[in-house]
Amino acid sequence: MTQPNRILALFAHPALHKSRINSQLIRAIANLDSVTVNDLYERYPDFDIDIEREQQLLVNHEIVVFQHPFYWYSSPAILKEWQDLVLEHGFAYGHNGTALQGKKFLSAVSTGGTKQAYCREGYNYYTLRELLTPFEQTARLCGMEYLPPFVVYGTHETTNAEQIEHHADHYRTVITALRDNQINWDILPKLHRINQDLERAIVTPEVAPHA
Ligand SMILES: Cc1cc2nc3c(=O)[nH]c(=O)nc-3n(C[C@H](O)[C@H](O)[C@H](O)COP(=O)(O)O)c2cc1C
Repeated sequence: MTQPNRILALFAHPALHKSRINSQLIRAIANLDSVTVNDLYERYPDFDIDIEREQQLLVNHEIVVFQHPFYWYSSPAILKEWQDLVLEHGFAYGHNGTALQGKKFLSAVSTGGTKQAYCREGYNYYTLRELLTPFEQTARLCGMEYLPPFVVYGTHETTNAEQIEHHADHYRTVITALRDNQINWDILPKLHRINQDLERAIVTPEVAPHA
């Protein structure tokens, strides 16, 4: 039995009291063993980010998750500030900047736009995977493995509590599987998003090829 992966969820929502989706997603994983939730707006209301603390948190976890609503085709502002300050040369990249090498990176985002809006024929023109490439390349530059993102599309149309609960359940399932090495790593690169087909993405411990 391998050690569970420690997962750091960097959570960014500037108005959590108004959140319908992310508040439930983060709640679904907050109490899991080996999962640390780092609520950036709560901890740094003045954007006064403690670089040393954040770097130490990164070092202490094997998997890093950026969880946030999609804002202007990117993240809420604090997560950009966090990247600018915390991912320093000599720590995250560059000469001797090897602290993040070999870790895994997951984006967990919710979008107002539907899946159909995120394609060439849709009003957002680009796919979500294309729009997430700055995160993907940031992970790559830091020597991290970029996983297909966890995506909840069409939040404006996700109106009932049951649908939201369903997404929260899936999020908890994915995070638990990542923690416990129950991911089908061969299938993952073929998925547009990690929650596209959970039956294929997740394997039971008995048949896990990388367990
Ligand atoms: C400032 C702002 C910018 C937004 N930009 C986008 C966007 O670029 N694409 C999109 O699909 N939805 C966008 N939305 C909608 C949010 O993604 C959506 O409201 C959110 O995912 C819902 O999650 P929540 O209930 O946790 O707030 C934006 C919302 C706000 C407030």
